[in-house]
Amino acid sequence: MLMDSSKLAVYPGSFDPVTNGHLDILERALKIFDRIIVMIGDNPNKNPFFSPSERIDMLNEAIKKQIKVKGVVEVEYFGGLLLNFLKKKNANIIVRGLRAVSDFEFEFQRALLNRKLDSTIETVFIMTKDEYSFLNSSIVKEISRFNGSVKGLVPINVEKELKNKLNGIK
Ligand code: PNS
Repeated sequence: MLMDSSKLAVYPGSFDPVTNGHLDILERALKIFDRIIVMIGDNPNKNPFFSPSERIDMLNEAIKKQIKVKGVVEVEYFGGLLLNFLKKKNANIIVRGLRAVSDFEFEFQRALLNRKLDSTIETVFIMTKDEYSFLNSSIVKEISRFNGSVKGLVPINVEKELKNKLNGIK
């Protein structure tokens, strides 16, 4: 039987919105994997600011403009359990970014939990560039809400979308 030997990983997150930190992780992951499916998921602890389709569009545009590393990237929204998405895609590797030691405990618990639920699943952690170690989507939204500049923290198209959304244009 012919086997697809290309290395596939799923990079899940809320991406509400995508930041330059996320793109940095994606770029690093593409040096390891041939194909990455970015899964936009729902985090029950967070109230999404952007709709799934807005998040998909922002990610696709940012990837097109900013990702220079060769490889196949697909973006999809999935409203269910991450493990079910992996099954559906025939994938068994999860990529997550680590910014600081403070991320570790939460991520470690999730990785072990996922492996307990499905022993074929591995989680690969990629360290972010240090200049993004303070960055997350919540802080970006907070800065924008109070009219601060998020230049350099998010892709240019996201900067525009944040302004539009906050000004009620969309
Ligand atoms: O960017 P985030 O908020 O850290 O991403 C979290 C996300 C969306 C990846 C996580 O909440 C998730 O996987 N949600 C789907 C539901 C699920 O599978 N939850 C259990 C994960 S162990």
